[in-house]
Amino acid sequence: MNDKRKAARGVGCMGSDGLPLRETGPWATDKYHYVGHYMHMFATGMKNLWKRRTYVDLFAGPGRCRVKRTGEELDGSPLLALGCNFTSWLFVEKDPAYARALRDRCSKVKPDGGWRVLQGDCNEVVEEIRESLDAGCLALMVVDPYGMTNLRFETVRRITHDRRVDLIVTFPEEMSVRRNLWQWVRSSHCPLDDFMGAGEWRGALQRFHGAALPRLERTLAAVYKQALQNIGYTYADTVDEIVTIRTPRNVPLYKLIFASKHGRGVDFWNKAVAITPAGERKLPFGPAA
Ligand SMILES: C[S@@+](CC[C@H](N)C(=O)[O-])C[C@H]1O[C@@H](n2cnc3c(N)ncnc32)[C@H](O)[C@@H]1O
Repeated sequence: MNDKRKAARGVGCMGSDGLPLRETGPWATDKYHYVGHYMHMFATGMKNLWKRRTYVDLFAGPGRCRVKRTGEELDGSPLLALGCNFTSWLFVEKDPAYARALRDRCSKVKPDGGWRVLQGDCNEVVEEIRESLDAGCLALMVVDPYGMTNLRFETVRRITHDRRVDLIVTFPEEMSVRRNLWQWVRSSHCPLDDFMGAGEWRGALQRFHGAALPRLERTLAAVYKQALQNIGYTYADTVDEIVTIRTPRNVPLYKLIFASKHGRGVDFWNKAVAITPAGERKLPFGPAA
């Protein structure tokens, strides 16, 4: 990462607890609202059905972040998960300083253990992740990359093969798609091939050539959901399972794609996203924007 990007993401920033944190935009509170609700419902609602409930975070971060401009500090997805009724937690983080900070924070929040921070590229430590997910456990995996260049679809496929793992994926919209899309289309192999899993996205884009970008972005999300269906995520294809996170200026940043191999997961998701961050009830679910 170059210095400009590091500065934009707050690399090197310290939190009030003296440990490194990430900087983020105000939209993070919306993400944590929905993801936090789902974690809680999943871990509590499945308690009597599954003795072992595992949380996996593929892009864990340092555990806390600070909202730019307001300075508000928030728990990130790993610390939110530690507060839920899972029986074990696995956090994967590539950045060594972030991984260390997360370990320190987890030790304070949950000194009795049950959690593990795996420092490494999630695409390279698939077998170690699978060791935490035997057939007798139910898992929730949060997949929150910075963009489309950090994650291979093959990683998701291999981790979840033969396992009950519900997924929440932050699927980038404007940020990396708009910037790179046409350059990627022209190349014979690009990050989108790895992220989307196969070449289907190219065919889908060709069919929409000349269409407005928002429509193309929706197309990519649809292709991604189809790829998830192809690996057993039967419940990845209806609009109600998508939430769009936007900037304060209403620019869409990413969608939260939820996918499950079981209908009960979808029921929980629909309940978890029914209340907006402003506390309003969404009735009925509208189409994904
Ligand atoms: C968007 S942040 C995740 C934030 C986190 N989910 C939270 O709520 O606080 C992405 C994180 O993934 C890490 N990362 C980037 N590429 C990675 C990879 N290939 N494997 C594991 N972690 C990676 C980055 O260092 C960064 O901390």
